[in-house]
Amino acid sequence: MCGIVAYSGKNEAFPILINGLKKLEYRGYDSAGIGTVNGSVHLHKREGKVNDLVSYCAGKNTSGKIGLGHTRWATHGCANNQNAHPHQSQSKRLTLVHNGIIENYEALKEMLTFHDFNFESDTDSEVLVQLVEWYQIRYKLSTRVALGRALQDVQGSYAVVLHDTSVKYQLLAARSESPLVIGLGEEGHFVSSDSMTFDHSAKSIIYLEEKVIAELHQNEEPAFYTLDDITIDQDILPFDYRKVAVSKGDFESYTLKEIFEQKLSVSRTLNGFSNYNSEELSKVLDDVDRIIITACGTSCHSGIVAEYLIEKYAHLNVEVEYASEMRYKCHTLGKRDLVIGISQSGETADTKMALEIAKSKGVKTLAIVNGVNSSIARIADQVIYLKAGIEIGVASTKAFTSQLSAILMLTVLIAKTKNTLTQERLDEMIFELKKLPAYVSKTLAVSEKIARRVAYHIADAQSALYLGRGLSFPIAIEGALKLKEISYIHAEGYPSGEMKHGPIALVEEDLPVIAIVNNDESAAKIISNIQEVKARKAMVIVVKNEDVELPRNIADHVINVPAVPSYLNPIIQSIPLQLLAYYTAKLKGCNIDQPRNLAKSVTVE
Ligand code: F6R
Repeated sequence: MCGIVAYSGKNEAFPILINGLKKLEYRGYDSAGIGTVNGSVHLHKREGKVNDLVSYCAGKNTSGKIGLGHTRWATHGCANNQNAHPHQSQSKRLTLVHNGIIENYEALKEMLTFHDFNFESDTDSEVLVQLVEWYQIRYKLSTRVALGRALQDVQGSYAVVLHDTSVKYQLLAARSESPLVIGLGEEGHFVSSDSMTFDHSAKSIIYLEEKVIAELHQNEEPAFYTLDDITIDQDILPFDYRKVAVSKGDFESYTLKEIFEQKLSVSRTLNGFSNYNSEELSKVLDDVDRIIITACGTSCHSGIVAEYLIEKYAHLNVEVEYASEMRYKCHTLGKRDLVIGISQSGETADTKMALEIAKSKGVKTLAIVNGVNSSIARIADQVIYLKAGIEIGVASTKAFTSQLSAILMLTVLIAKTKNTLTQERLDEMIFELKKLPAYVSKTLAVSEKIARRVAYHIADAQSALYLGRGLSFPIAIEGALKLKEISYIHAEGYPSGEMKHGPIALVEEDLPVIAIVNNDESAAKIISNIQEVKARKAMVIVVKNEDVELPRNIADHVINVPAVPSYLNPIIQSIPLQLLAYYTAKLKGCNIDQPRNLAKSVTVE
C-alpha cells in the first residue's frame, strides 16, 4: 500500500527521498511523487515506477533540505499524475502525503466546495490538506492545531506528513491505524512508513502512537501533541540501521532470495519460540475451549494448517475466519475462546480490525506476526514473533513457512497443556522440529531443478488446478495463490475429494493439475482422485514425499521431497510449489518481486 518518506536535515532531500521510495517499492504502488522545499515547493509526480519519476525529474529543480515523497496504491481515483501525492492546499502553502482511507471524504469535500475550495485530484487525501487550510483560514489557527482539528473530523485511517512553507524546516506527522515511524539523527530527521528507509545517520526511532502529532524541526528535539494540542511524551528507542538494511545479495530477486533463505528463517522462528516465555501462554490456553484463527491471504492458509494440526494433536476445536469476514461471524465469541491473528506485516487492516472486535468482546487474543512493533503486535494480549527477517517480495514465502513453524511449536505447547499427547510423543515431535532447517535445506536442493523444468510445461497454460487432502489441502490453495499472484495464471486449489462435485468439469486435455500427496492416511484417497483427472487427460504434476509409491503412468511429472513426519509436510511441500510458481512467472517475464495490483502491506479494509 502507499508508502511515505519525508526528511528534514542538513543534506539534500531529493536523493534521500528517492532512495527511501525505492526501498518502499515492495509495498506495491502505481504512482510516485516527491516535493522538495527550497523557498517554494518543487513538486514532481508520475504514474508508474520510482524510476519513471527519477527520469522525469532529470534537469528539473529538486533542490531543498526538506521534502516529502510518496508511492501511491490507488484507492480513490485512478493511478495518474494528478492523483499521485504529494497534494497541496489551494494556496499551495501546505503540502501533504497520506496513507490510508478517509471514509467521510465526500461529505468533507462537499463542505469545502461550498466554501469555494477547488480540487485538482479525485483523491480523499487532497480533501485532508484542503481541510487543514480551511481550519487555518477560518479560525486563524497554527498549522499544527489546524491539522489536529482536521484529523478529528476524519473517519477512517491515516498516516500523514504535512509541510507548511511558512514554517521553515518543519514537518508535522500523525497516524491512526496506518503505520508511521520517525527516525532521529544528527544529520536530520526522517518520517516513513517503514524504518528500512532510514539511513545510517538515524540513531533513534519513535513508533508514533495513535492520534499523536509529531512536530519535527531540523536539528531540534521533536515535540508531540494530542489532536487537541496537549503536549505528550513518546518513547524514543535506539535504532540500529544495520538491522534493517536489506539487499538481494547474489540473487536475481528478493523473492528467490527469500525462498532460499527459508532454512535460516524457520530456524530463527523455532529458536525464537523456544526462548519465548510459554508459561504465561500455557496459563491462557488452559481455560480455552475453542480457538478462532483470523487472517488474510497466505496467512489465512497458515491458519487452515493450524486447524488441522491443533485439532489432530491437541483435540481442541479450531475455526478459521477470513479477517475481512470476522465482524459478520463474531456473534458467539465468548470468554473461553482464544482469537489468534496471523500476519506477516502486522499491519493488515482487516486482521487488526478482527482482533479489535475480539478484544471489544473481552476475548483473549494472540498475534503471530513477523513485523516487530507492528500495529497487530501492539493490539494483541500476547505476541509470538516469527523473527523471519524482513520479507520484501510481495508474495509471501519465508514468512509463510515461519508461520507454519510457529504453529507447529504452538500445537506442541497446546497438546502439552491439554495433556493430549504422551511426553514421549511430544519429545519426538520436538526432536523432528529441530531437524526442520536441515529438511528445508534438502528440499531446496532436490526440488529446484525439477521445479524449474516443470515450469516450462505450465507457463503457457490458461489455468491450473491444485489438489490436496488433509494437511496438503491448505498447501494446495497456497500453491494456487502463489501461481496466480506472481505468474497471473488463473489457478484454484481444492480438496481433491471435492473434484467430483464440480471442478472436474474444468478438466480437459493438458490442463495442469498439481496434486500434493502426503505420506499419511490420505495418500491412497488422493491417488485415486489423481486417477480420475488422469483419465480425463490432464497433465498431472505430483508433489510427494519420496517414501510414497505412485502407480505407474499416473503422473507426467513427479517432484519428490524428503520423507518427513507428516506434520512437517506443509512446510516441506510448500517449497517446490513456491519454486514452481517462481520459475513459471520468470518464464512469462513477470515482475516477481512486485506483481501488478498487489501491495505488501494491506493497510485499508
Ligand atoms: C500472498 C500474500 C498475501 C498476504 C495477505 C496478508 O502471497 O502475501 O495474501 O498473506 O495480504 O498479509 P499479512 O500476512 O501481512 O497480514
